[in-house]
Amino acid sequence: MIQNPFITSGEIPEQYFCDRDAETKKLISMLTTGSNVCLVAPRRIGKSKLIKHLFAQPEMEKYYTIYIDLFHTSSLRELVQTFGTAVVSVLQTKGEKTLAKILSGLRSIGFKLSSDPITGVPTLGVELGDIQSPELSVNEIFDMLEKANKPCIVAFDEFQQIVNYPEKNVEALLRGRIQHLANCNFIFCGSQRHLIAEMFMSSKRPFYASTEMMGLKPIPQDTYTEFVKRMLDQFGKTLQDGTVEYVYGLAQGNTAFMQRIFHFAFNRIGKGEECTQMVVKLAFADMLDAAEDVYQPLLSRLPEHQKMLLYAIAKVGRAQKILSGSFIRANSLKSSSSVQAALKKLLEMDLLSVENGEYFVTDMLLQYYLQRMLGMPME
Ligand SMILES: Nc1ncnc2c1ncn2[C@@H]1O[C@H](COP(=O)(O)OP(=O)(O)OP(=O)(O)O)[C@@H](O)[C@H]1O
Ligand SMILES: [Mg+2]
Repeated sequence: MIQNPFITSGEIPEQYFCDRDAETKKLISMLTTGSNVCLVAPRRIGKSKLIKHLFAQPEMEKYYTIYIDLFHTSSLRELVQTFGTAVVSVLQTKGEKTLAKILSGLRSIGFKLSSDPITGVPTLGVELGDIQSPELSVNEIFDMLEKANKPCIVAFDEFQQIVNYPEKNVEALLRGRIQHLANCNFIFCGSQRHLIAEMFMSSKRPFYASTEMMGLKPIPQDTYTEFVKRMLDQFGKTLQDGTVEYVYGLAQGNTAFMQRIFHFAFNRIGKGEECTQMVVKLAFADMLDAAEDVYQPLLSRLPEHQKMLLYAIAKVGRAQKILSGSFIRANSLKSSSSVQAALKKLLEMDLLSVENGEYFVTDMLLQYYLQRMLGMPME
């Protein structure tokens, strides 16, 4: 039995996964009828966990499911490293072919097999320097998928990363192969709305009109309330009416944020005790305290004009017309050109986001942290 049913990092065991039934069904129906899907939604709402949940469904047993996280990749070579390793580990563990045979099909990648000196478990590795011609390698990986003895569902998470690679032809290269793979369907997932939208919705781009677009909304409040009750109940704890509503409002339905608050709240109460609004308020304060170690160094590294803009936006939550004279004066900012420069940097660092012309602090906890620094009362 685990210690806390509100999972805030790592894999979520199925019994602690909340809802997403309709979304899972929709994905299954699209992917098993030949569509590719582009899943785009705000940060920390639950995109990646939804894909993992999908892959755990019985309907997926007929498929090889391959999950590739491109978040840390910054070149085609790194894509090959990540993609290749994911494909090999799935095909190998599913007993598709002997490892030697798989690796001979991926000769250009230069995989090295070694065994863990302590456990003896074989591990597969590849150094970036051993990938001499990444384009050839990409083709070898797709060849491997094409020849697999079961259909494949391949998820590329944080797919917008490929736009930042120095190689210019990556979209065309991937698209060229993907459209001809009869036995594979793909999920492209990302959160930087504008980058992904441009990739799939501009007629000038290779991926144009090649996928079904799907968004992801917050889990409905009623559903999340039922979930919180059920989780607490399993551990002999109860929920005071109105508590989830309070948290839902604070988090604007953001899944990761709500799960974190309830994770801390759960730890604050013992068996037989009630999770009240006061408990979650204290839990929220715990969270802000715990975040200090991360946010203090982050803030201390920011130049003053960037920090001032960040504070100005955090103060109002969602800010419009931030280049206007009134916004600049009200927040003692320097000039519209200095705001523009700061904005560019903060967007690049993903500290700020923009949606429909409104700017907001991407990390909601940071927003509340900054508000607390400004001495604003926490409702
Ligand atoms: N259905 C769910 N049930 C329970 N917790 C969830 C669920 N979905 C998301 N979470 C919580 O939210 C956190 C973030 O989820 P996830 O990593 O899937 O979000 P994401 O949208 O992929 O985020 P990012 O934009 O950072 O990639 C998880 O670690 C977990 O705490
Ligand atoms: Mg994710």
